[in-house]
Amino acid sequence: MQHFERTVFCGLVDQMFLGKEISLSGWVNRRRDHGGLIFIDLRDRSGLMQLVFNPEFSHKAHELAGSLRSEYVISVKGTVVNRAPGMINPDMSTGNYELQVWELVILNRSKTLPFNLDELANVDEELRYKYRYLDLRNPVHQNRFAIRNKVTYLIREFMQSEGFYEIETPILTKNTPEGAREFIVPSRIHKTHFYALPQSPQLYKQLLMAAGMERYFQIARCFRDEDLRADRQPEFTQLDIEMSFVKEGDIQHLIEQLLRHVWKKMFDVDLHTPFARMTYEQAFGAYGSDKPDLRFGLKIQDCTSLFEHSEIKFLHAITDAGGKIGALCVSERAFSRSELDAWTERAPKLGAKGLIWVRFSQDGKLESPIGKFLPDSFMQDCKSIFPEISTNSTLFIIAGPYKHAWTSLGRLRLELAQSLALIPKDQFHFSWVVDFPLFEYNEETKSFDATHHPFTSPQEGWENLPPESIKARAYDVVLNGIELGGGSIRIHDARVQDKIFELIGLSKQQTQAKFGFLLEAQEFGFPPHGGIALGLDRFVMLMCGALSIRDVIAFPKTGNGYDPLMDSPVEVPAEQLKEYGLCIMPKKKE
Ligand code: AMO
Repeated sequence: MQHFERTVFCGLVDQMFLGKEISLSGWVNRRRDHGGLIFIDLRDRSGLMQLVFNPEFSHKAHELAGSLRSEYVISVKGTVVNRAPGMINPDMSTGNYELQVWELVILNRSKTLPFNLDELANVDEELRYKYRYLDLRNPVHQNRFAIRNKVTYLIREFMQSEGFYEIETPILTKNTPEGAREFIVPSRIHKTHFYALPQSPQLYKQLLMAAGMERYFQIARCFRDEDLRADRQPEFTQLDIEMSFVKEGDIQHLIEQLLRHVWKKMFDVDLHTPFARMTYEQAFGAYGSDKPDLRFGLKIQDCTSLFEHSEIKFLHAITDAGGKIGALCVSERAFSRSELDAWTERAPKLGAKGLIWVRFSQDGKLESPIGKFLPDSFMQDCKSIFPEISTNSTLFIIAGPYKHAWTSLGRLRLELAQSLALIPKDQFHFSWVVDFPLFEYNEETKSFDATHHPFTSPQEGWENLPPESIKARAYDVVLNGIELGGGSIRIHDARVQDKIFELIGLSKQQTQAKFGFLLEAQEFGFPPHGGIALGLDRFVMLMCGALSIRDVIAFPKTGNGYDPLMDSPVEVPAEQLKEYGLCIMPKKKE
């Protein structure tokens, strides 16, 4: 059956088409039979349009319409008319009109769907992904992909206007250290040898600067074999950027302008720039995280000094060992005893050994499991640290080694804010976090790892500092508590690069084998350069108000990296493995 040439999309039928003959094509969204008339809501990407089948217009079309079921694909011809006054639907963009149909063609039938498209929230994720092409028919998804499409268009528009070249880089490549495990691909021609899928185009984009391209960008696919979370997928997309002859401020300014451009065109909102800037130490000290959510206060305060003279032995043991005591203060909220017990029980899940609460009730009474050890002046003493403290306040206290205790307090801060509804909706709070440490000490390997990647330039004066005190010329852009992107000024001098490799424990041979090409390139006139990458999926997720990046990826993997639609990954037959010089070790018996 041939479909009629489409005159207009369903959702775009308006006054202009009134009284005109038009053709529409799409899916049967819903069918209702009323007193001899059949009503169909026809759906295409743009929206819905009501069709009416009346035997007085066409007996044949009316009869055929009787066989229509949800998700049949049809094509119709008819005349646009006004709906009767009582039948107008203000919730539909085309709710004033209907199409009186006189010709109908069924292009494809549909079995009953495995789930109802209107009730996706209750459908098991794996089932939705197995039938992702059905899942995506839901208008909520369609809208998210419209946003994603517009965002990528606006990014390209802006980058072009700033003189950037869009350049593709290889997918079959060699390990680029971004902190995750890489996916590897066996080579048939070079038996027993493997390519790695890029964790990001990091080294290629630096080499493009060596090549004199000056300004590069790419909407790049990246692959990381890491534990998945709501904002992590094994394959994801970055807006990847690199520029020559720049300093930190140039890249930050560029990103602020880009985000202003996108926000203006998407929401007609003028983003306030420059974004707030804080050092890694400030962010961690106040929010227990390097990606602070600034939509609400509830900052962590160091209250170690309050307990200096107390007789609480376990707190002394912690502070004597160099640990700290931190607290969050919630005011104007009366917690019940059972609520406080529930938070105490939650503490181990947040990574803390324990949690102490101190409640100052309406009548000024202090209650706490450690109450009898606290001086009468405790509330007064607290005022120097928590000026907001009042007779209706509660302190949530966690003690431990600084990093550990503050990370737990950071998590508690987010959970408390969520449960107390302190996080305003529809607000975008951007910030830059800067001055990260260049290295992180790895307790397991007893050596230093690069905090970002080992091509990040150290800040001036680094030669005279111990590794743990060296700061990086790195910056992260954070939006509503999510790391949207990260970048740095790179090393362009082979001697500095060599030294950094040495500090992260790479031998000369390892350095040559892994990064010999980079060190060599740095000796052929490598310009100073820097860049950044924004996680495009996270970006779109935040713009759509979605809760997971899976909602803005057309064909995502489940939480354990499985693709239920293609049923991937799969085992490979032994003959095929042989072509690669590979064989699989037999599974160990359980
Ligand atoms: P980084 O590793 O910080 O930097 O990554 C940049 C941004 O990519 C996003 N991202 C992810 N999104 C979804 N799933 C993942 N598994 C995932 N991992 C990272 C985040 C993150 O901020 N080459 C450097 C950039 C540079 O130095 O220019 C890099 O990739 O939003």
